[in-house]
Amino acid sequence: METYRLITSLSLILQLLSRVSSPATVEESPEFWRSQAQRTLQAALDRTPNTNVAKNIVLFLGDGMGITTYTAARILKGQLQNQSGEETVTNMDTFPYVGLAKTYSVDFQIPDSAATATAYLCGVKTNLNTIGVSAAARNGVCRSQKGNEVTSILRWAKDAGKAVGIVTTTRVQHATPATSYAHSASRKWYSDADLPASARTNNCTDIASQLLSNTDIDVIIGGGRKYMTPRGTRDPEYPRDYSSRGRRKDGRHLIQEWQSLKAGKVAHYVWNKTDFDAVDPETTDYLMALFEPGDMHFDLERDPLMDPSIAETTEKAIRILSRNPNGFFLLVEGGRIDQAHHAGRGSMALHEAVALDRAVGKALELTNEEETLTVVTADHSHPLVINGYPFRGNSILGKSPLWASDMMPFTTLMYGNGPGNKMEGGKRPDIRKVDTKTSGYVQLAAVPLKSATHGGEDVVILARGPMAHLLQGVHEQSYIAHAMAYAACVGTDRRHCAARPAVAAARNQAGP
Ligand SMILES: *[C@@H]1O[C@H](CO)[C@@H](O)[C@H](O)[C@H]1NC(C)=O
Ligand SMILES: *[C@@H]1O[C@H](CO)[C@@H](O)[C@H](O)[C@H]1NC(C)=O
Ligand SMILES: *[C@@H]1O[C@H](CO)[C@@H](O)[C@H](O)[C@H]1NC(C)=O
Ligand SMILES: [Zn+2]
Repeated sequence: METYRLITSLSLILQLLSRVSSPATVEESPEFWRSQAQRTLQAALDRTPNTNVAKNIVLFLGDGMGITTYTAARILKGQLQNQSGEETVTNMDTFPYVGLAKTYSVDFQIPDSAATATAYLCGVKTNLNTIGVSAAARNGVCRSQKGNEVTSILRWAKDAGKAVGIVTTTRVQHATPATSYAHSASRKWYSDADLPASARTNNCTDIASQLLSNTDIDVIIGGGRKYMTPRGTRDPEYPRDYSSRGRRKDGRHLIQEWQSLKAGKVAHYVWNKTDFDAVDPETTDYLMALFEPGDMHFDLERDPLMDPSIAETTEKAIRILSRNPNGFFLLVEGGRIDQAHHAGRGSMALHEAVALDRAVGKALELTNEEETLTVVTADHSHPLVINGYPFRGNSILGKSPLWASDMMPFTTLMYGNGPGNKMEGGKRPDIRKVDTKTSGYVQLAAVPLKSATHGGEDVVILARGPMAHLLQGVHEQSYIAHAMAYAACVGTDRRHCAARPAVAAARNQAGP
């Protein structure tokens, strides 16, 4: 035990010595903190709620972006810019209104992306694995789906004459985007080949086909080509790869069908960055961009010549949708934060969250706070912790200077469960010589699981623009859809637009 204390103290002393030269001296002045707080206070005092009707809504969804991910991504973003990181202000951090969402589903304490998407998009909590149906429907039971469908805010916005779009980094048939347009007793019914016999007999349809048959969506961007084409169809990008080939058993070619459906309009289908860049938003009515057979690449592994970033796809979507004089609804999903966390890859997950933050910045740049409600939230969390006592500016992907009682260091990021449980003979691995900052590094997990589970704490809701103040407080996740719909005056509750003429009249009377 004495040796342990000695090593720990030595390690701390070394770290302190190295800190003497660090450039944080400005923070030693109380005036620094006082004047910063005064500026923040003044901004809060000057803020008056924006009670406009939202012409546009942009909803950013970080799949699996729990609060620890949110904080850690902020630190990483700063450190990628050679800052210490903790004090960095991300684009998400600039939102004036903050709330919390309770994410549990009707049947589970800790939910999945399908049940949660049904909550924040359709305004109704439901059961795990189900999409666009109420909790009266049962997971995987087609017959229980009938009559229990619930529609999403994407549909309500379209019905109100707005343009609508979905942008994701996963396949466009994946749980989050799918819930905006499909009804399915199972999130796994991507193509007709995934429908069990009972679902086929009972006339349930696959998610990819519902992309064409339900709401008329103006902009569709993500991955997921293979669920759109007949079985065996070679993929244009990976013609030799068998697993990338078309999946459909019904022989339908949904991409070609989509193109015929849009005949007479300017509708572009693209699958690579060259063609995507050539799409002129000023003259485009419809865009379907499917960059991969399945999910898109992680941002760190993306070939920038073949696939655009989420900031680039967000920009294209906003530019096309903005042509509609009635405004638009856009769902942007950073969908692979979750997948990286399932794999226990902290670095990859944080980089995905940073990429999403860049897309948020792009949207703020392209829209006007007076007329656009922007919301950033997550569907659920993951069992990630930020722990130890790392010094200021220590890499968020690095190790704590504190050694544990087994006389070994540990990483700041760790998981409650997942593939990172590498215990050997009752001991955890010695990481003194391991580079824990690589994108492939799998952080230690307390409990072994092939795939990490989700986490159950509340997720953050950030809001800015018309009626953003409605999202303050602690809410059921299903409230988010209702608050956004009220702000934009879409869906069944139209009180907000009824109130508008009165506001305009009062303004006219008060005029010169
Ligand atoms: C951060 O510092 C490294 C090494 O000094 C340098 O190569 C890199 O360009 C810097 N990055 C930024 C964003 O300033
Ligand atoms: C399925 O659709 C077919 C053709 O429209 C119809 O004849 C049949 O009754 C339907 N089955 C069910 C269970 O709804
Ligand atoms: C992009 O797609 C178009 C249309 O299929 C194709 O002609 C072109 O060669 C592709 N570009 C690249 C770089 O693969
Ligand atoms: Zn997940």
